[in-house]
Amino acid sequence: MIEPVIISNWRYGKSAVSTGMEALKRTDSALDAVEFGIRAVEDDPLTDSVGTGGIPNIEGVSELDASFMVGNIYRCGAVTCLTMTKNPISVARKVMELCPHVMLCGEGATRFARAVGFQEYQPVTPAASEKWKDLREKLYAGMKDKSKFKEYQAAVGYDSDLDSLARGIEMMTKAGQLKQLGTVGTLCLDSTGKIVAGTSTSGWALRLPGRVADSSVIGAGTYATPAGASSSTGLGEVSIRHGLTRSVCDFLEQDYSPTEACESALKKMQKRDKVDLIMALIALDKQGRVGGASTKESFSYQYQKLGDSVMTEVVPTPVSV
Ligand code: GLY
Repeated sequence: MIEPVIISNWRYGKSAVSTGMEALKRTDSALDAVEFGIRAVEDDPLTDSVGTGGIPNIEGVSELDASFMVGNIYRCGAVTCLTMTKNPISVARKVMELCPHVMLCGEGATRFARAVGFQEYQPVTPAASEKWKDLREKLYAGMKDKSKFKEYQAAVGYDSDLDSLARGIEMMTKAGQLKQLGTVGTLCLDSTGKIVAGTSTSGWALRLPGRVADSSVIGAGTYATPAGASSSTGLGEVSIRHGLTRSVCDFLEQDYSPTEACESALKKMQKRDKVDLIMALIALDKQGRVGGASTKESFSYQYQKLGDSVMTEVVPTPVSV
């Protein structure tokens, strides 16, 4: 007998667990639990790195990223750089259900969203706009600090010295130092054994236009198989380079527990690459076990089984090699 369970990352993911659990009780569908759970965070204007209220890119435009995957059947859908639309996770689910493609980007993603019934909607709130203005001022004020750029280059492995790239990375570095980076990931196993993963972000504040976050990349931000599911958070560029959630699912297939699988994927990344940034993973397996791991202390996740009256919060000890 399978006991359904939902897990979501960061403290703001508590609303994903509670809203997802309500959906699960209503429909017993892991697809609905993940979609509605993530929507609760996307709709919260106080979460400034996901959906409504997310801090926009360097030009002040909100470009949203999300992906959705059903592990049992290897079906997935994703949108990247989606503009003027409310719930990217729901559009990603529709891509999976209605579209012959796996991922739509930019204008094509937005046109698809309109075609399947999503109204035009401005996700940039007045508060997000104020934060954007403030960050941009600080950013430009700090741009002469070349040592910070070198630090960032060493950490993430960029080796180009093109001026334009340097300027772009310097901009993003400054934004990163201000910690305007986040993601919501939610995973669910339902009573029929369906395993579903979803991830959504408004991306790195002040990023360059057209930048793709890992949250929309299958195998980086989101992955699921019949063995289990995973979602990642942290710097998307690192997650994409190391295919972090695909790596977690490979470990789950070898019967690692979800926590061991997350730790092993992060250690594998750390052995290959010097990454002095927060990267964190959550996972769930087909038996309903859950877990997570992080490279830094600030990360937490929470989960709730169908029979639990309250959710359980976990703050993992950081992994290192
Ligand atoms: N993981 C979210 C981002 O890189 O924007």
